Amino acid sequence: MRWCSALLGLLLLRLGLQALRGLVLPGTTPVVIPGVNAVCRASYGRFVLGAGDEYGRRYSSFPAGLRKEMREMARGMFSFGYDNYMKYAFPEDELNPILCRGRGPDHGDPSNLNINDVLGNYSLTLIDALDTLAVMGNATEFHRAVRLVIDTVSFDKNSTVQVFEATIRILGSLLSAHIILTDTKQPFGNMTLSDYDNELLHMAHDLAVRLLPAFENTKTGMPYPRVNLKKGVPPDSRNETCTAGAGSLLVEFGILSRLLGDSTFEWVARRAVRALWSLRSNNTGLLGNVVNIQTGQWVGKQSGLGAGLDSFYEYLLKSYILFGEEEDLEMFNEAYKSIQNHLRRGREACNEGEGDPPLYVNVNMLNGQLMNTWIDSLQAFFPGLQVLKGDIEDAICLHAFYYAIWKRYGALPERYNWQLQAPDVSFYPLRPELVESTYLLYQATKNPFYLHVGMDILLSLEKHAKANRCGYATIHHVVDKSQEDRMESFFLSETCKYLYLLFDEDNPLHRVDNKYLFTTEGHLIPLDPRLRDTSWQDIFHRKSKVPQTQDKLSQTKLRTGNSSSNCYRVPEERRFSLPLKSVYMRQIDQMVGLL
Ligand SMILES: *[C@@H]1O[C@H](CO)[C@@H](O)[C@H](O)[C@H]1NC(C)=O
Ligand SMILES: *[C@@H]1O[C@H](CO)[C@@H](O)[C@H](O)[C@H]1NC(C)=O
Ligand SMILES: *[C@@H]1O[C@H](CO)[C@@H](O)[C@H](O)[C@H]1NC(C)=O
Ligand SMILES: *[C@@H]1O[C@H](CO)[C@@H](O)[C@H](O)[C@H]1NC(C)=O
Ligand SMILES: *[C@@H]1O[C@H](CO)[C@@H](O)[C@H](O)[C@H]1NC(C)=O
Ligand SMILES: *[C@@H]1O[C@H](CO)[C@@H](O)[C@H](O)[C@H]1NC(C)=O
Ligand SMILES: *[C@@H]1O[C@H](CO)[C@@H](O)[C@H](O)[C@H]1NC(C)=O
Repeated sequence: MRWCSALLGLLLLRLGLQALRGLVLPGTTPVVIPGVNAVCRASYGRFVLGAGDEYGRRYSSFPAGLRKEMREMARGMFSFGYDNYMKYAFPEDELNPILCRGRGPDHGDPSNLNINDVLGNYSLTLIDALDTLAVMGNATEFHRAVRLVIDTVSFDKNSTVQVFEATIRILGSLLSAHIILTDTKQPFGNMTLSDYDNELLHMAHDLAVRLLPAFENTKTGMPYPRVNLKKGVPPDSRNETCTAGAGSLLVEFGILSRLLGDSTFEWVARRAVRALWSLRSNNTGLLGNVVNIQTGQWVGKQSGLGAGLDSFYEYLLKSYILFGEEEDLEMFNEAYKSIQNHLRRGREACNEGEGDPPLYVNVNMLNGQLMNTWIDSLQAFFPGLQVLKGDIEDAICLHAFYYAIWKRYGALPERYNWQLQAPDVSFYPLRPELVESTYLLYQATKNPFYLHVGMDILLSLEKHAKANRCGYATIHHVVDKSQEDRMESFFLSETCKYLYLLFDEDNPLHRVDNKYLFTTEGHLIPLDPRLRDTSWQDIFHRKSKVPQTQDKLSQTKLRTGNSSSNCYRVPEERRFSLPLKSVYMRQIDQMVGLL
């Protein structure tokens, strides 16, 4: 413990000493996508674990039988939550797992944003869960659920919801299920419905049209954070939005536009991204977390990787992977560089050298100075994004830090104070980010360590979050493990899905010829030439210096299709044993008070 405090003292002393790290290779393209890194797997998997210490012994192998057992446990976890939602809560938005009741919008208290931003009285949990049913190969229930959505859900509701939440949870899921239904390849078994007539796509369109008023009457083009689905932007609306809310709509809106052949949706989403991008600090290249959509002034100057900014970065890269627009990649690479230069603390390389483990902190966007000493649970998504970028080494370290916090509490506190080694905000609403990163790192490395991480997460959820009667409950306090009567829809759409996929080695998703991207809500979107139609370039007046030629596009395809070169980013001598040397694992365990 004392040693840790000294260590953190050092961490603090170093603030402001921002060495240029040169970690970002110019023009680096994302190369690791689940399902396309077969070559990598082989080279990681070939080596036998040598380390004989406690870490080596604990993590060095994972029997196939246990993997199956864990997969079935993840399936059971999903079913228990899903079946009970259907039994006790549908058609309401969420299941209250302790009292076995449904939950809808809080009309009594419109200011209860925690509820009303997300629950639109549109059977949220059912819609969000659709593609998890497909991933688990359950065609019967997938069909029943799709039918229910088509027959019973309407968006013509007096509900004021957050544009961002409605987009990632509802719009994204409708689009994903639509693509699964109409996919000519049908990798998950026969998910087609003979009388399906693009109803989900029409519903997605209807919802998006109801969200469009958010983009009107704003001087910058950044959307209002909330709309009423019937009446548009409420008259007394605030002019402030978080960066992630305004700037991560591009994946869903872009897919919708490209499927419909109507550029409107992608155009407004792209305009919002460009508006935000133009407001980054001249000094650091960073963005803040809250901005005024009329004046473009930063109301929140905190820059970090968690709440308020997380999916903004994520969608720059994911848009590029899906649509192949160079502009998105250029923004992502520049943002990534600023993040490395100003947010990253600790030693330069994850697996060598001296010093504190790498950590990404919250700083003032204008000067890079530390703003607080907590990291939030949402930031645990970042290692997964780093995997997509191809920066696996760095991903390993940040992931290991979050895993250590999980080990300490059996959950992730919403905010963890790395200086005090204690939670700042203590609840855990069953968030998926750590298991998402675990899954992507496992796909990239095939190291059994990540299966152990997944098992630890699964077992803690069973132990602490399972509500006696009907679902999984938010952990109210990670220390005393008290529960709260809420099961967020992302538990079924993401947490359960990633856990299942982690252990389901033979899932169709993992076959080399199937290339999928996960949206920020965990919804599956296949990489599809239909989404990369070059004719769009005229519509968006690409600002990029690099003209988008057919040649360029096919190069991109080639690079994403052959990820073997990515293997060489992890040095040869390290392609064995633990992803992170024991000495560094121990260091992290000490830093979070585990040892
Ligand atoms: C719509 O909802 C708001 C707040 O929940 C309520 O005050 C209002 O009366 C509702 N309007 C209609 C037409 O139902
Ligand atoms: C949900 O929508 C239905 C049908 O439009 C309506 O009857 C019901 O009052 C709404 N419930 C809530 C909680 O808004
Ligand atoms: C499909 O899901 C339903 C509802 O959860 C469940 O009752 C059924 O057993 C599942 N079928 C398969 C083959 O998993
Ligand atoms: C898939 O199921 C549909 C009925 O839902 C059927 O019409 C179709 O022939 C099936 N396709 C295959 C390839 O089995
Ligand atoms: C939002 O900005 C508009 C235009 O600048 C202004 O008229 C309105 O009063 C602002 N709303 C609030 C709640 O401040
Ligand atoms: C950055 O610099 C440009 C031109 O020098 C200026 O117009 C702009 O206002 C500056 N932006 C910020 C956020 O400081
Ligand atoms: C993938 O790239 C590697 C290294 O650049 C190369 O040796 C290999 O032939 C490529 N494989 C395919 C299938 O293109």
